[in-house]
Amino acid sequence: MSSSDSAVDVSTLCESESNFGGCEKGYDLTLTDKVIAATGPNAHPRLAEIMPSLVRHLHDFAREVNLTVDEWTVAIDLINACGRMSDDKRNETQLLCDILGLETLVDEITAKQVADASATGATTPSAILGPFYRHDAPLLPNGSSIVKALDPSVPWYETAVADSALVTGRVLSSASPTEPIRNAIIDVWHSAPNGLYEQQDPDQPDMNLRGRFKTDDEGRFSFYCLRPAAYPIPDDGPAGQFLAMLDRHPYRPGHIHFVVSGPEHRTLTTQIFDDRDEYIQKDSVFAVKDELIVSFVPREGDPNAKWLLEYDFVLDSIA
Ligand code: BEZ
Ligand code: FE
Repeated sequence: MSSSDSAVDVSTLCESESNFGGCEKGYDLTLTDKVIAATGPNAHPRLAEIMPSLVRHLHDFAREVNLTVDEWTVAIDLINACGRMSDDKRNETQLLCDILGLETLVDEITAKQVADASATGATTPSAILGPFYRHDAPLLPNGSSIVKALDPSVPWYETAVADSALVTGRVLSSASPTEPIRNAIIDVWHSAPNGLYEQQDPDQPDMNLRGRFKTDDEGRFSFYCLRPAAYPIPDDGPAGQFLAMLDRHPYRPGHIHFVVSGPEHRTLTTQIFDDRDEYIQKDSVFAVKDELIVSFVPREGDPNAKWLLEYDFVLDSIA
């Protein structure tokens, strides 16, 4: 294609494209097409597919809001600060995406692709993994507790006793809603009543409030844990400053994380959300889905639990 072939008639663009008043404002709309046309024939195929859209949205955004050099510099500084703060223990750039709903959105898009490709029935919805997952949580027998070394010297002891809970259920196959999956693994983790995961809190034992459980022949699992408490996402860095500039709170509603895997089934990453939580409709990272909101019920006669939750997971069959 010659350069004259790729030249853009601005008057046509003004009539035919939504460009947020770019024409009326007198901006040079050919810039966007020149940037898109600069991609070479040997570009990575997926990049060649998606970059025109990204460039168009970025340019339209900048024209729509009349973005100035000073404002763009602030945004660059924010992204650079996120990068500087990130390491193998903390991913500030991911946190920035989280507060913009982007991790939840890409999780939804990915889940939809999987569901559209699946020939079987409905599955438990997914939710974001979040930054506090640890591999190799201890494999524990069903009916045991993930609460470690809880005694009256722990500052949140009384809350932990009042919120002690038994969680039990089955792992089922989407191939048939009644077909249990035996030998599925439920990998579970949640924060302590002080709002901290064990790796954030030097006063908690290693692997506290984490465990893995294997389902029995009926696909059943059970473990003791705590009703989860709301907690703030880490807000002492640039993502937190950005939240404050937006006059937003950093809290997530109390939730329990799960990665559930089973033979010949797609692994499910999800969270369940406690319906008592005041932040249930205002999660700072937008991960709550109605199907994942649960109700704990009082439990009588169990010295280890004041609450009970029964919850079944349905995994996508890929057999
Ligand atoms: C979490 O659930 O642990 C989490 C998710 C996103 C950002 C920060 C924390
Ligand atoms: Fe979490």
